[in-house]
Amino acid sequence: MKREKTVLITGASYGIGKALAGEFIRDGYHLVLTARSEDKLTEVRSELLEKYPQRSIHLFPMDLSLPNAPAMLAKQLENQHLNVDVLVNNAGYGLLEKFHTSDINRILNMISLNVNNLVHLTALLTPAMTAQKSGGILNVASIAAYVPGPNMAVYYATKAFVLSFSEALHEELKSYGITVTCLAPGPTKTRFGEVSGMEASLIFQMGAQNANEVAQKAYQGFKKGKAVVVPGFKNKLTILFSRIFPRTWVRKVVHKIQKIG
Ligand SMILES: NC(=O)c1ccc[n+]([C@@H]2O[C@H](COP(=O)([O-])OP(=O)(O)OC[C@H]3O[C@@H](n4cnc5c(N)ncnc54)[C@H](OP(=O)(O)O)[C@@H]3O)[C@@H](O)[C@H]2O)c1
Repeated sequence: MKREKTVLITGASYGIGKALAGEFIRDGYHLVLTARSEDKLTEVRSELLEKYPQRSIHLFPMDLSLPNAPAMLAKQLENQHLNVDVLVNNAGYGLLEKFHTSDINRILNMISLNVNNLVHLTALLTPAMTAQKSGGILNVASIAAYVPGPNMAVYYATKAFVLSFSEALHEELKSYGITVTCLAPGPTKTRFGEVSGMEASLIFQMGAQNANEVAQKAYQGFKKGKAVVVPGFKNKLTILFSRIFPRTWVRKVVHKIQKIG
C-alpha cells in the first residue's frame, strides 16, 4: 500500500506559508505546521480540516529564530512518530532600514531565522530522506536573492544565501531521490510588507501578487522538480534585467527604489 505523505511547513500561520499549506493538503498531504502564533495556526487548521476532514494536521507553535528551535522541533516530531517527506522552509522576514542605524539584535535574529535555522532544520531532516531515497525540500528565497539591496542589505544577503544553498542541494541530493526547489517570489500581498516596512515602498506600489497565486506556482514547480521557481512574468523580467545590466547600475537602481527618508 502506498504510504500517505506528510509535509512540514514553517511560517504557516500567514501569507505564503498558509497558502502553501492549502496547496499541499489539496494534493493529499498530511500537514505539520509551525510558526509563533498558536491562535492563527489553530485557525488555519480549522479552516483546512473543514475542507479536508480526512487529513491530519499537527501544530508545533514555536519561535524558529531561537538557536535550539530546529532541534526541539525535530525531537517533537520524533516523539510523535511523525515522518516528514517534504520540508518547506518558508518562515522569514525582512527589514527596510539603513544598516548603520539598525538594531544589531534584530538583524542577527533575522539571520537566525532566514538562514541559520533553515540550514539547521534541513540538516536534521535530510538524513531520513536520503535513507528513504525520497523526499523534497522547498526553500523560500526572493527575487531579492539576485541583487544587492541597499537599505535592506542583510535581508537581500540572507535570500542570496538561500538561493545558492538550495541550488547546490538541488544537484547534491538529486541522486538520493530528493527534489530541492527554491521559490523566488517578488512583492506579494502578505504581512511581509507591514513587518518589513516595505508596504509604502515603490517596489510594492508597482504591484504585488497574491499569496495563493505564488503558492500555486511554487507547488506546480516543486512537483515538476524544478530547481528554481519565479512566479509571474514581471518577476522573471526583473531577474533578467538584473543579469543583463551591469552590477554597478543594478545596485544603484535598487537603492533608488528602496530610498528611505
Ligand atoms: N511577501 C513578499 O513580498 C515576499 C517576497 C519575497 C519573499 N518573501 C518571503 O516569503 C516568506 C514568507 O513570507 P510572507 O510574505 O508570507 O510573510 P508573512 O505573511 O509575514 O508570513 C511570515 C510567516 O513566518 C512566520 N514567522 C515569522 N517569524 C517567525 C519566527 N521567529 N519563528 C517562527 N515563525 C516565524 C510568521 O508567523 P508568526 O508571526 O506567527 O510567527 C508567518 O507565518 C518569507 O521567507 C519572506 O522572506 C516574501
